[in-house]
Amino acid sequence: MNILAFETSCDETAVAVVRDGREILASEVLSQTDLHALYGGVVPEIASRSHLEALAPLTAKALSGMEGGVDAVAATAAPGLIGALLVGLNFAKGYAMALGLPLIPVHHIRGHIAAAYLAEPELEPPFFAAVVSGGNTLLIEVLGYTEYRVAGGTRDDAAGEAFDKAARLLGLGYPGGAALSRLAETGDDTKYAFPRAAIQDAPFDMSFSGVKTALRNLVHNAKQLYGDGWTDALDLPSVAASYQKAVVDVLVSRIVAAADALAYHTVVLAGGVAANRKLCAELRVRLGSRIHIPPVYLCGDNAAMIGSQAYYEALAGVRAPLSQNAYATYGVEKALCQIQAKTIPPLSPFRGCG
Ligand code: KG4
Repeated sequence: MNILAFETSCDETAVAVVRDGREILASEVLSQTDLHALYGGVVPEIASRSHLEALAPLTAKALSGMEGGVDAVAATAAPGLIGALLVGLNFAKGYAMALGLPLIPVHHIRGHIAAAYLAEPELEPPFFAAVVSGGNTLLIEVLGYTEYRVAGGTRDDAAGEAFDKAARLLGLGYPGGAALSRLAETGDDTKYAFPRAAIQDAPFDMSFSGVKTALRNLVHNAKQLYGDGWTDALDLPSVAASYQKAVVDVLVSRIVAAADALAYHTVVLAGGVAANRKLCAELRVRLGSRIHIPPVYLCGDNAAMIGSQAYYEALAGVRAPLSQNAYATYGVEKALCQIQAKTIPPLSPFRGCG
């Protein structure tokens, strides 16, 4: 089954074609980073408009030279920027309607987890997943291809957001996660003290607002004492390294504790922050061959992961009606289509959950 998939939940426009959930036939990703960098963060209206402009040419590019037809159309329907999601979902609806193909809505976090199926054809649930991205930080038991149980997560900022906001405070631009980790490479991660927050009675939950505030205070105090010379007064690589270490320590301790307590051998790391080398290295030290990390191009937002998950949603009987909505927030455990067929229906258009 070839699935044409769209991903527009934030600031990447992405189109892909995936065969049987495991093989990427085409994958196009267009980042809008340059457009948003000017404002120091994603501007939702600019994101929506840019998706609208990019989708048709990107789809043509993804389909050019493709052998064999498309059997179904998938799109990210939640969570994300609502305007951006609606653009991609409605584009997919138009495409599905015009070609008489079924439409499969996909949860963005489920997609991030499915990136691991593309990287490792042998991987099957059950396993434990840590989804660490710009908008989400969740620890999830993947019980089946469409069955999840959330074990923990952040109570406030996502880990990627914590990196981006720190990078902004240090004047590293947007999105700053990668820049901050590059700066940290030459620093001493023991030089500055940053807090590691723990949440009472919730051993697998995290909080990153305190570490961010600690950095804000450090920078603020340096600016008050040294004015424009504040960057020379601080050892910036060591600030970045110490901050990164604090975030990574919290992530690694929760991931390892949860996977062990819940008795999972296989642990998958997913989401854009999986590009962080320090995080990957620490997880490899603690978990050895138990940790599975897809390549960077599959960890950041892309449509191939959506096409992969859509295949398993389709096998589970998910078909969306044209009235399918997009949602800015939506639990990963909950099906996006409320009615799931008990037996696997054929891929006929728009039946099932309307
Ligand atoms: O998964 P993703 O592409 O988008 C979301 O779904 O959120 O993740 C993007 C996030 C951004 O916050 C970015 O700063 C962060 O991943 N990121 C990193 C690194 N590379 C990307 N964070 C830390 N270290 C990196 N090397």
